[in-house]
Amino acid sequence: MKVLVTGGMGYIGSHTCVQMIKANMEPIIIDNLCNSKLMVLDRIEALTGVRPTFYQGDVRDEAFLDKVFSEHDIQAVIHFAGLKAVGESVSKPLEYYDNNVNGSLVLVRAMRKAGVKSIVFSSSATVYGDPEVVPITESSPVGATTNPYGRSKYMVEECFSDFYKAQPDWSITLLRYFNPVGAHPSGTMGEDPQGIPNNLMPFIAQVAVGRREKLSVFGDDYSTPDGTGVRDYIHVMDLADGHIAALNAVGQKEGLHIYNLGTGNGSSVLEMVEAFGEACGKPVSYEICPRRPGDIAECWASTAKAEKDLGWKATRTIAEMTADTWNWQSKNPEGYK
Ligand code: NAD
Ligand code: UD1
Repeated sequence: MKVLVTGGMGYIGSHTCVQMIKANMEPIIIDNLCNSKLMVLDRIEALTGVRPTFYQGDVRDEAFLDKVFSEHDIQAVIHFAGLKAVGESVSKPLEYYDNNVNGSLVLVRAMRKAGVKSIVFSSSATVYGDPEVVPITESSPVGATTNPYGRSKYMVEECFSDFYKAQPDWSITLLRYFNPVGAHPSGTMGEDPQGIPNNLMPFIAQVAVGRREKLSVFGDDYSTPDGTGVRDYIHVMDLADGHIAALNAVGQKEGLHIYNLGTGNGSSVLEMVEAFGEACGKPVSYEICPRRPGDIAECWASTAKAEKDLGWKATRTIAEMTADTWNWQSKNPEGYK
C-alpha cells in the first residue's frame, strides 16, 4: 500500500516510515525540511534497506501536491507536517494557522481532486486543555486550548469533522498523541530540536550529554504525588506502530475515527529525571523553578478505545524510553549534524 506521508522527515514521521516499510507499506514522503534534515533519508535507508521516494515541497503548495498525487497510486495519507513549538506559536500565530490549518485544508482539497479518501491526522492531547478528570477518554471535553499551536490542532479537528459530515464516504482518523519521547533503538534516529528544547525529554538529554548545565523543573507545588507535573510519555516506536494499526484497522473504513495514543500511565518530572539518570549512569542536574505559564498539573490517556478498535497497545517502558533517548543523544550529541 502506497501512503503519502507529509512531514515524514520529522521526528515522529521518520520513525513511522521505518515501521511502515517493515510492515510492507510504501511511504511516499513530502517535507519542506523546515524542521528536519535530508540526512534522515539515509538513516531510514540504512535501517530498512529501502530509500523511500522523497519530494521536497510544502503542503500548502496545491500544484505540487497535485503532481505528487498524479505520479503515484496513493491509497491513504498520514499528515504529520506542521509547526509544533508552543512558545513560538504565541509570537507567530499567523504562521502557525497558515502552516497547520491552511496546510491541512490544501492537502485535503488535493486529496479530493485525486480521489484519495483516507487521512490520518497528527493531533495532540493539547486539545483537551486542562482535563477535569484523568484518565482522559476520547469523549472528554475538547477545545479549551491555551495557545495558537493548540488551537490550530483543535481547528483542524473541527474542519475535518465538518468535512466528514459533507463527505461521509471518507475515512478520517484523528490521533491525539500524548507525550512522544524516545528514539529508534539503533541510536541512528531521534528527536533533533533546533535551539533550546521546549520539551522535557530533549532538555534532560542535552543536560546529560553536557550541552546544557541543568534542567529547570517548572514547579513542584502541583497537587501531584511529588508536586511536579505528570504526563503520559509514550515511546515514539509505539506511536509509530499506532499509525500502522490505525491505517490497517480503520484507514479503509468510512468514518470519523478518534483515538488517544498514550500508555495510560502518568510519570512526574522528577520520575523522568531519575529514570534518565539510571539510563545514562549519572545523575541529571536540576533546580526547582516557578511553574511555566499554561502548564497543567497532570494528564494521561485512557487507552481502552485504541486497544479495542485498533488492537494496538503501547508496550515500551519508561526505562526503554530513557535508554533509547540516551543512546541516540550520546551517539549524536549535536543531532543530525
Ligand atoms: P517535527 O517538526 O519533527 O516534524 C514535522 C515535519 O513537518 C518536519 O520535518 C517539517 O520540516 C515538516 N513540515 C512542517 N511544515 C511543513 C509544510 N508546510 N510542508 C511540508 N513539510 C512541513 O515534529 P514531530 O514531533 O514529528 O510532530 C509531527 C506532528 O505531530 C506535528 O503535526 C505535531 O504538531 C504533532 N504532534 C507532535 C507532538 C510531539 O510532542 N512531538 C505531540 C502531539 C502532536
Ligand atoms: C507541551 C505543550 C503541548 C504540546 C506538548 C507536545 C506547553 C504548555 N504545552 O506539553 O501543547 O502538545 O508539549 O509534546 O508547552 N518541564 C520542566 N522543564 C522543562 C520542560 C518541561 O519541568 O524544561 C515539565 C513541564 O512543566 C511538564 C513536563 O515537564 O510538567 C512535560 O513538559 P513538556 O515536555 O513540555 O510537555 P507538555 O507540557 O505536556
